[in-house]
Amino acid sequence: MGASLLRMHFHDCFVNVCVLGCDGSILLDDTSNFTGEKTAGPNFNSVRGYDVVDKIKTELDKICRRSIVSCADILAVAARDSVSIGPSFTYSVLLGRRDATTASLNAANNNLPAPFFSFPQLLASFQAHGLDLTALVALSGGHTIGLARCTTFRNRIFNDTNIQTNLAASLQRACPPTGGDDNLQPMDRTPAGFDTQYFDALLRNRGLLHSDQELFGGGSAASDALVRLYSTSPQRFAADFAAAMVKMGNMQPLTGTNGEIESDCRKIN
Ligand code: HEM
Ligand SMILES: *[C@@H]1O[C@H](CO)[C@@H](O)[C@H](O)[C@H]1NC(C)=O
Ligand SMILES: *[C@@H]1O[C@H](CO)[C@@H](O)[C@H](O)[C@H]1NC(C)=O
Repeated sequence: MGASLLRMHFHDCFVNVCVLGCDGSILLDDTSNFTGEKTAGPNFNSVRGYDVVDKIKTELDKICRRSIVSCADILAVAARDSVSIGPSFTYSVLLGRRDATTASLNAANNNLPAPFFSFPQLLASFQAHGLDLTALVALSGGHTIGLARCTTFRNRIFNDTNIQTNLAASLQRACPPTGGDDNLQPMDRTPAGFDTQYFDALLRNRGLLHSDQELFGGGSAASDALVRLYSTSPQRFAADFAAAMVKMGNMQPLTGTNGEIESDCRKIN
Protein backbone atom coordinates (compact mmCIF):
# COMPACT_ATOMS: atom_id res chain seq x y z
CA MET A 1 0.00 0.00 0.00
CA GLY A 2 2.93 2.34 0.69
CA ALA A 3 3.91 2.39 -2.97
CA SER A 4 0.35 3.20 -4.00
CA LEU A 5 0.13 6.06 -1.49
CA LEU A 6 3.45 7.51 -2.63
CA ARG A 7 2.24 7.46 -6.21
CA MET A 8 -1.08 9.02 -5.23
CA HIS A 9 0.66 12.06 -3.74
CA PHE A 10 2.72 12.45 -6.95
CA HIS A 11 -0.41 12.25 -9.11
CA ASP A 12 -2.19 14.70 -6.81
CA CYS A 13 0.64 17.24 -6.98
CA PHE A 14 1.11 17.17 -10.76
CA VAL A 15 -2.53 17.96 -11.57
CA ASN A 16 -5.01 20.75 -11.14
CA VAL A 17 -7.31 22.88 -13.21
CA CYS A 18 -5.89 26.38 -12.88
CA VAL A 19 -2.99 25.95 -10.48
CA LEU A 20 -0.59 23.09 -10.23
CA GLY A 21 -0.42 21.63 -6.80
CA CYS A 22 -1.12 19.07 -4.14
CA ASP A 23 -4.73 19.79 -3.39
CA GLY A 24 -6.42 16.45 -2.82
CA SER A 25 -8.16 16.77 -6.20
CA ILE A 26 -7.23 13.21 -7.13
CA LEU A 27 -9.52 12.00 -4.33
CA LEU A 28 -12.69 13.75 -5.55
CA ASP A 29 -15.35 11.54 -7.11
CA ASP A 30 -17.05 12.72 -10.30
CA THR A 31 -20.03 15.06 -9.80
CA SER A 32 -22.58 16.63 -12.13
CA ASN A 33 -20.26 19.68 -12.25
CA PHE A 34 -17.02 17.97 -13.21
CA THR A 35 -15.48 14.71 -14.29
CA GLY A 36 -12.60 14.15 -11.92
CA GLU A 37 -9.16 12.60 -12.15
CA LYS A 38 -9.94 9.04 -11.10
CA THR A 39 -10.88 7.87 -14.60
CA ALA A 40 -8.02 9.67 -16.39
CA GLY A 41 -5.69 7.35 -18.34
CA PRO A 42 -2.80 7.38 -15.88
CA ASN A 43 -5.12 6.77 -12.90
CA PHE A 44 -7.95 4.50 -14.02
CA ASN A 45 -7.56 0.88 -12.93
CA SER A 46 -4.13 1.88 -11.70
CA VAL A 47 -4.12 4.26 -8.71
CA ARG A 48 -5.07 2.40 -5.54
CA GLY A 49 -5.49 3.34 -1.89
CA TYR A 50 -8.52 5.63 -1.86
CA ASP A 51 -10.07 3.47 0.87
CA VAL A 52 -6.91 3.72 2.98
CA VAL A 53 -7.04 7.53 2.74
CA ASP A 54 -10.69 7.42 3.86
CA LYS A 55 -9.65 5.38 6.90
CA ILE A 56 -6.84 7.78 7.80
CA LYS A 57 -9.22 10.74 7.47
CA THR A 58 -11.85 9.11 9.67
CA GLU A 59 -9.29 8.29 12.38
CA LEU A 60 -7.84 11.80 12.30
CA ASP A 61 -11.22 13.51 12.53
CA LYS A 62 -12.11 11.27 15.45
CA ILE A 63 -8.91 12.12 17.32
CA CYS A 64 -9.10 15.85 16.46
CA ARG A 65 -12.88 15.90 17.14
CA ARG A 66 -13.32 17.94 13.96
CA SER A 67 -12.21 18.04 10.36
CA ILE A 68 -8.99 20.03 10.54
CA VAL A 69 -6.39 18.11 8.53
CA SER A 70 -6.80 18.48 4.77
CA CYS A 71 -6.91 15.51 2.44
CA ALA A 72 -3.97 17.02 0.54
CA ASP A 73 -1.88 17.05 3.73
CA ILE A 74 -2.90 13.48 4.47
CA LEU A 75 -1.49 12.42 1.10
CA ALA A 76 1.76 14.31 1.73
CA VAL A 77 2.28 12.69 5.12
CA ALA A 78 1.22 9.24 3.90
CA ALA A 79 3.75 9.51 1.06
CA ARG A 80 6.51 10.40 3.52
CA ASP A 81 5.54 7.58 5.87
CA SER A 82 5.46 5.15 2.95
CA VAL A 83 9.12 5.70 2.23
CA SER A 84 10.29 5.98 5.83
CA ILE A 85 9.05 2.65 7.12
CA GLY A 86 11.93 0.52 8.30
CA PRO A 87 15.54 1.50 8.86
CA SER A 88 15.63 3.89 5.96
CA PHE A 89 15.18 7.63 6.42
CA THR A 90 12.62 10.35 6.95
CA TYR A 91 12.09 14.04 6.25
CA SER A 92 9.89 16.91 7.42
CA VAL A 93 6.70 17.52 5.48
CA LEU A 94 5.42 21.07 5.09
CA LEU A 95 1.77 21.24 6.13
CA GLY A 96 -1.14 23.62 5.69
CA ARG A 97 -2.41 22.69 2.23
CA ARG A 98 -6.12 23.14 1.65
CA ASP A 99 -8.27 20.99 -0.63
CA ALA A 100 -9.53 21.71 -4.13
CA THR A 101 -13.23 22.17 -4.74
CA THR A 102 -12.97 20.92 -8.30
CA ALA A 103 -11.02 18.39 -10.33
CA SER A 104 -10.41 17.79 -14.02
CA LEU A 105 -10.07 14.65 -16.08
CA ASN A 106 -8.36 16.56 -18.88
CA ALA A 107 -5.85 18.14 -16.52
CA ALA A 108 -4.88 14.69 -15.24
CA ASN A 109 -4.51 13.38 -18.79
CA ASN A 110 -2.42 16.38 -19.82
CA ASN A 111 -0.17 16.81 -16.79
CA LEU A 112 1.05 13.36 -15.89
CA PRO A 113 4.12 11.95 -17.64
CA ALA A 114 3.64 8.68 -19.56
CA PRO A 115 5.72 5.49 -19.44
CA PHE A 116 6.51 5.77 -23.17
CA PHE A 117 8.04 9.27 -22.76
CA SER A 118 11.58 9.95 -23.98
CA PHE A 119 14.13 11.67 -21.75
CA PRO A 120 13.43 15.13 -23.23
CA GLN A 121 9.68 14.61 -22.71
CA LEU A 122 10.17 13.53 -19.10
CA LEU A 123 12.41 16.51 -18.39
CA ALA A 124 9.96 18.90 -20.06
CA SER A 125 7.11 17.52 -17.95
CA PHE A 126 9.05 18.07 -14.73
CA GLN A 127 10.30 21.50 -15.76
CA ALA A 128 6.74 22.54 -16.56
CA HIS A 129 6.08 21.86 -12.87
CA GLY A 130 9.10 23.85 -11.72
CA LEU A 131 11.17 20.74 -11.03
CA ASP A 132 14.66 20.23 -12.42
CA LEU A 133 16.66 17.31 -13.80
CA THR A 134 17.88 16.27 -10.36
CA ALA A 135 14.29 16.15 -9.11
CA LEU A 136 13.30 14.06 -12.14
CA VAL A 137 15.98 11.45 -11.50
CA ALA A 138 15.61 11.43 -7.70
CA LEU A 139 11.81 11.27 -7.72
CA SER A 140 11.79 8.58 -10.39
CA GLY A 141 13.59 6.61 -7.70
CA GLY A 142 10.10 6.29 -6.20
CA HIS A 143 9.96 3.30 -8.53
CA THR A 144 12.22 1.51 -6.09
CA ILE A 145 8.95 0.39 -4.51
CA GLY A 146 5.79 -0.92 -6.08
CA LEU A 147 4.45 -2.78 -9.07
CA ALA A 148 3.47 -2.03 -12.63
CA ARG A 149 0.88 -3.58 -14.92
CA CYS A 150 1.87 -5.38 -18.11
CA THR A 151 0.17 -2.78 -20.32
CA THR A 152 2.59 -0.12 -19.07
CA PHE A 153 5.75 -1.98 -20.16
CA ARG A 154 4.62 -4.36 -22.95
CA ASN A 155 5.89 -2.19 -25.74
CA ARG A 156 9.29 -1.92 -24.03
CA ILE A 157 9.82 -5.65 -23.54
CA PHE A 158 8.94 -6.50 -27.15
CA ASN A 159 10.29 -3.50 -29.02
CA ASP A 160 12.99 -1.65 -27.08
CA THR A 161 16.60 -2.52 -27.88
CA ASN A 162 18.05 -1.07 -24.65
CA ILE A 163 16.72 -3.87 -22.45
CA GLN A 164 18.82 -6.71 -21.09
CA THR A 165 18.00 -9.91 -23.03
CA ASN A 166 17.34 -12.08 -19.95
CA LEU A 167 15.01 -9.51 -18.45
CA ALA A 168 13.07 -9.11 -21.70
CA ALA A 169 12.69 -12.90 -22.01
CA SER A 170 11.43 -13.37 -18.47
CA LEU A 171 9.10 -10.39 -18.64
CA GLN A 172 7.69 -11.65 -21.96
CA ARG A 173 6.61 -14.84 -20.20
CA ALA A 174 4.77 -12.79 -17.57
CA CYS A 175 3.40 -10.29 -20.07
CA PRO A 176 2.47 -11.87 -23.42
CA PRO A 177 1.83 -9.84 -26.62
CA THR A 178 -1.90 -10.06 -26.02
CA GLY A 179 -3.82 -10.74 -22.81
CA GLY A 180 -2.64 -10.41 -19.24
CA ASP A 181 -2.87 -6.62 -19.35
CA ASP A 182 -3.18 -6.38 -15.58
CA ASN A 183 -0.42 -8.87 -14.74
CA LEU A 184 1.83 -7.19 -12.20
CA GLN A 185 5.61 -7.07 -12.13
CA PRO A 186 7.89 -5.50 -9.50
CA MET A 187 9.47 -2.21 -10.56
CA ASP A 188 12.86 -3.39 -9.28
CA ARG A 189 14.30 -6.51 -7.60
CA THR A 190 13.15 -5.33 -4.15
CA PRO A 191 9.65 -3.81 -4.62
CA ALA A 192 9.07 -3.51 -0.86
CA GLY A 193 12.43 -1.93 -0.05
CA PHE A 194 13.18 1.76 -0.41
CA ASP A 195 16.73 1.25 -1.60
CA THR A 196 18.95 1.97 -4.61
CA GLN A 197 18.21 -1.25 -6.53
CA TYR A 198 16.20 0.80 -9.01
CA PHE A 199 19.30 2.72 -10.06
CA ASP A 200 21.46 -0.44 -10.11
CA ALA A 201 18.95 -1.90 -12.53
CA LEU A 202 19.12 1.10 -14.86
CA LEU A 203 22.91 0.71 -15.11
CA ARG A 204 22.34 -2.79 -16.49
CA ASN A 205 19.47 -1.95 -18.87
CA ARG A 206 17.05 -3.58 -16.47
CA GLY A 207 14.61 -0.69 -16.09
CA LEU A 208 11.00 -1.92 -16.21
CA LEU A 209 9.38 1.07 -17.90
CA HIS A 210 10.67 2.70 -21.04
CA SER A 211 10.63 5.98 -19.07
CA ASP A 212 12.79 4.43 -16.33
CA GLN A 213 15.49 3.32 -18.74
CA GLU A 214 15.48 6.74 -20.45
CA LEU A 215 17.17 8.12 -17.31
CA PHE A 216 20.29 6.09 -18.10
CA GLY A 217 21.46 5.99 -21.69
CA GLY A 218 18.59 8.20 -22.81
CA GLY A 219 20.92 10.90 -24.12
CA SER A 220 21.53 13.02 -21.03
CA ALA A 221 25.02 12.83 -19.54
CA ALA A 222 23.79 14.67 -16.43
CA SER A 223 21.07 12.10 -15.87
CA ASP A 224 23.48 9.22 -16.46
CA ALA A 225 25.80 10.70 -13.83
CA LEU A 226 23.01 11.00 -11.26
CA VAL A 227 21.91 7.40 -11.82
CA ARG A 228 25.51 6.30 -11.24
CA LEU A 229 25.77 8.46 -8.13
CA TYR A 230 22.51 7.24 -6.57
CA SER A 231 23.34 3.60 -7.30
CA THR A 232 26.43 3.89 -5.10
CA SER A 233 25.17 6.40 -2.53
CA PRO A 234 21.94 5.66 -0.68
CA GLN A 235 22.62 8.82 1.36
CA ARG A 236 22.72 11.07 -1.70
CA PHE A 237 19.62 9.40 -3.11
CA ALA A 238 17.78 9.84 0.19
CA ALA A 239 18.82 13.48 0.55
CA ASP A 240 17.91 14.42 -3.04
CA PHE A 241 14.67 12.42 -2.94
CA ALA A 242 13.60 14.12 0.28
CA ALA A 243 14.44 17.60 -1.04
CA ALA A 244 12.55 16.94 -4.26
CA MET A 245 9.52 15.54 -2.40
CA VAL A 246 9.35 18.71 -0.31
CA LYS A 247 9.64 20.82 -3.44
CA MET A 248 6.97 18.83 -5.28
CA GLY A 249 4.75 18.94 -2.21
CA ASN A 250 5.08 22.70 -2.08
CA MET A 251 4.04 23.49 -5.66
CA GLN A 252 1.44 26.27 -5.45
CA PRO A 253 -0.60 24.89 -2.55
CA LEU A 254 -4.05 26.23 -1.75
CA THR A 255 -3.74 28.25 1.45
CA GLY A 256 -5.55 30.98 3.39
CA THR A 257 -9.14 31.24 2.24
CA ASN A 258 -8.53 29.34 -1.00
CA GLY A 259 -10.01 25.87 -1.17
CA GLU A 260 -11.42 24.19 1.91
CA ILE A 261 -10.77 21.32 4.28
CA GLU A 262 -12.95 18.45 3.16
CA SER A 263 -14.80 16.46 5.75
CA ASP A 264 -14.99 13.61 3.22
CA CYS A 265 -12.00 13.38 0.87
CA ARG A 266 -14.24 12.09 -1.94
CA LYS A 267 -16.49 15.15 -2.12
CA ILE A 268 -16.54 18.88 -1.55
CA ASN A 269 -18.22 20.13 1.62
C1 HEM B 1 8.97 10.28 -14.23
C2 HEM B 1 7.81 10.00 -14.71
C3 HEM B 1 6.96 8.85 -14.24
C4 HEM B 1 6.31 7.98 -15.03
C5 HEM B 1 6.26 7.99 -16.55
C6 HEM B 1 5.66 7.03 -14.16
C7 HEM B 1 4.88 5.98 -14.60
C8 HEM B 1 4.41 4.96 -13.80
C9 HEM B 1 3.67 3.82 -14.27
C10 HEM B 1 3.24 3.59 -15.71
C11 HEM B 1 3.43 3.02 -13.21
C12 HEM B 1 2.68 1.70 -13.22
C13 HEM B 1 1.19 2.00 -13.16
C14 HEM B 1 0.31 0.80 -13.42
O1 HEM B 1 0.80 -0.32 -13.42
O2 HEM B 1 -0.89 0.99 -13.61
C15 HEM B 1 4.00 3.66 -12.06
C16 HEM B 1 3.97 3.15 -10.78
C17 HEM B 1 4.47 3.80 -9.68
N1 HEM B 1 4.98 5.07 -9.65
FE1 HEM B 1 5.50 6.19 -11.25
N2 HEM B 1 5.94 7.32 -12.87
C18 HEM B 1 6.73 8.46 -12.85
C19 HEM B 1 7.20 9.11 -11.74
C20 HEM B 1 6.91 8.75 -10.44
C21 HEM B 1 7.21 9.55 -9.28
C22 HEM B 1 7.81 10.94 -9.32
C23 HEM B 1 6.82 8.83 -8.20
C24 HEM B 1 6.89 9.18 -6.73
C25 HEM B 1 7.80 9.98 -6.20
C26 HEM B 1 6.29 7.58 -8.68
C27 HEM B 1 5.86 6.55 -7.90
C28 HEM B 1 5.33 5.36 -8.37
C29 HEM B 1 5.07 4.21 -7.52
C30 HEM B 1 5.39 4.11 -6.05
C31 HEM B 1 4.51 3.23 -8.35
C32 HEM B 1 3.99 1.84 -7.92
C33 HEM B 1 2.54 1.99 -7.49
C34 HEM B 1 1.93 0.74 -6.90
O3 HEM B 1 2.61 -0.26 -6.69
O4 HEM B 1 0.70 0.78 -6.64
N3 HEM B 1 6.33 7.58 -10.05
N4 HEM B 1 4.58 4.85 -12.43
C1 LIG C 1 -22.58 22.23 -8.79
O1 LIG C 1 -22.33 23.61 -8.77
C2 LIG C 1 -23.41 24.38 -8.29
C3 LIG C 1 -23.06 25.86 -8.46
O2 LIG C 1 -21.80 26.15 -7.86
C4 LIG C 1 -23.71 24.02 -6.82
O3 LIG C 1 -24.78 24.74 -6.33
C5 LIG C 1 -24.02 22.52 -6.77
O4 LIG C 1 -24.19 22.12 -5.43
C6 LIG C 1 -22.90 21.70 -7.41
N1 LIG C 1 -23.26 20.30 -7.46
C7 LIG C 1 -22.52 19.34 -6.90
C8 LIG C 1 -23.00 17.95 -7.06
O5 LIG C 1 -21.48 19.58 -6.29
C1 LIG D 1 6.07 -2.92 -31.44
O1 LIG D 1 6.14 -1.84 -32.33
C2 LIG D 1 5.29 -1.95 -33.46
C3 LIG D 1 5.60 -0.82 -34.41
O2 LIG D 1 5.50 0.42 -33.75
C4 LIG D 1 3.83 -1.99 -32.98
O3 LIG D 1 2.95 -2.11 -34.06
C5 LIG D 1 3.64 -3.14 -32.02
O4 LIG D 1 2.32 -3.11 -31.49
C6 LIG D 1 4.66 -3.09 -30.90
N1 LIG D 1 4.55 -4.31 -30.10
C7 LIG D 1 4.09 -4.31 -28.85
C8 LIG D 1 4.02 -5.65 -28.18
O5 LIG D 1 3.76 -3.31 -28.27
